[in-house]
Amino acid sequence: MANARITVHTAADIDRIEPEVHGHFSEHLGRCVYEGLWTSDSADEDGYREDVVELLADLEIPVLRWPGGCFADDYHWEDGVGPQEERPRRRNLFWAQGPEDLPEESNAFGTDEFLQLCERIDTEPYLAANVGSGSPQEAANWVEYCNYDGDTELADRRRENGHEEPYGVKYWGLGNENWGCGGQMSPEQYAREYRRYATYVGTQSNLMFDHDIELIACGFEGHEWNRRFLEEINQSRWGVEFPLDHLTLHHYYGRGMNVDEADEDQYDRMLVEALEMERHIERMAGAINAVATTRDIGVIIDEWGTWHPEATADNGLEQPGTVLDALSAAAVLDVFNHHSDVLTMTNIAQTVNVLQCLIETDEDEAWARPTYRVFDLYAPHKGSEAVQTSVDTPTRELADDDEDRELPLVGASASVGDDETYVTVTNLDCREEKAIEVALEGVDLDSATVEAELLFADHDADAEVDADNAEEFTAEELDVSVDSGALIAELPASTVAGISIR
Ligand code: AHR
Repeated sequence: MANARITVHTAADIDRIEPEVHGHFSEHLGRCVYEGLWTSDSADEDGYREDVVELLADLEIPVLRWPGGCFADDYHWEDGVGPQEERPRRRNLFWAQGPEDLPEESNAFGTDEFLQLCERIDTEPYLAANVGSGSPQEAANWVEYCNYDGDTELADRRRENGHEEPYGVKYWGLGNENWGCGGQMSPEQYAREYRRYATYVGTQSNLMFDHDIELIACGFEGHEWNRRFLEEINQSRWGVEFPLDHLTLHHYYGRGMNVDEADEDQYDRMLVEALEMERHIERMAGAINAVATTRDIGVIIDEWGTWHPEATADNGLEQPGTVLDALSAAAVLDVFNHHSDVLTMTNIAQTVNVLQCLIETDEDEAWARPTYRVFDLYAPHKGSEAVQTSVDTPTRELADDDEDRELPLVGASASVGDDETYVTVTNLDCREEKAIEVALEGVDLDSATVEAELLFADHDADAEVDADNAEEFTAEELDVSVDSGALIAELPASTVAGISIR
């Protein structure tokens, strides 16, 4: 008898899962850039960490956001180009680069280093321009430096700095959290700033390049803010046709849950907080639909993931990498699949060593965290068509919860590709296993080839990864049988399955 029944409605398309939904975010914060992506030790000749580059390339990450975060609105890109020995050392207003370090920025890793990293790992760069303390001209100049192929001082400077061809950067964020660290602006104030910046940044793609650039505005988890921002944007002469391609918000969770002290009730609570992502996506899409009636503006979640009390500014926002965190990432990636009709990108925070990083390093080696394994397991969804799934699952009420919230104990999502239907199923119950049954409408499972993998069967939710045990968190084969036209499998507590049906 199954505990949870999943039905995949194979003909009920939601939309294509944009590969960028599996995107990443790197900030000049703690050991993310310095010691993470870039170091003078264990580096190749250009200073990149070969071990990290290899792990990122293996994962085929589609997009990488940089340089912040809060850092973006205190960053002046010209400090980080040209001969490294001539680059100025500056303050980093928000973050020290490591637990032992001062809040200073060497500028050794700048625009060319970042964009060439993206070329190496074949990922689309997403640059966040400084709106809080910068100028429209500085932002427009950055676009010209990166993307222009003509005969100007800035295009020549890029060539002198070693990159003959324009980089063709497509994604440009205008500011970061401008309701907070990016200038403490009201929505109307940010909208007016955004319009000024977008005029100078966005207009460049009309004449100067043969490719489009896409402009990204910052939104907020308080959705009234987003509505007011969009209404003010509409006050320009262009109205809703104003250059604005995506609106973002950030959703972190787990702030009340100390990793090393938490009990299973707190695990449930954190997973419910993670699933609140769904409400945020729907509310932001609702605000866009209500105000920008005649055009598409995509929803981006350009920072998301766990942020536990262990991660403080003093320790470079470092926290342990656990199975529980990875489980929450799986639950959120399922939510993203369900909303592929509005989501154009997401970026988990942050790529290396910081918050819910996928990769951790020490001086000698780099290793994948359980969250990396989840992204790997979910990779077959990228670029496929998400389809509706119904999940009939038991739930558990949160202990001592004022809002009487419940955790659905099993979650799932599905996509249909050229020759494969791919289903991911997560047992969010950290206490007990779940027998699952998966039916696919219109698919004769008796003649299909079914292959399935399972993550974390040998670990509890609180298991923590380190350099020595990282390989223990790789996927193993999952036994799946067919009975009465449905797939049957057992998922141990806190595990994630990926099932391929061809
Ligand atoms: O990712 C850490 C910080 O979280 C970022 O700098 C900021 O945008 C967010 O508040």
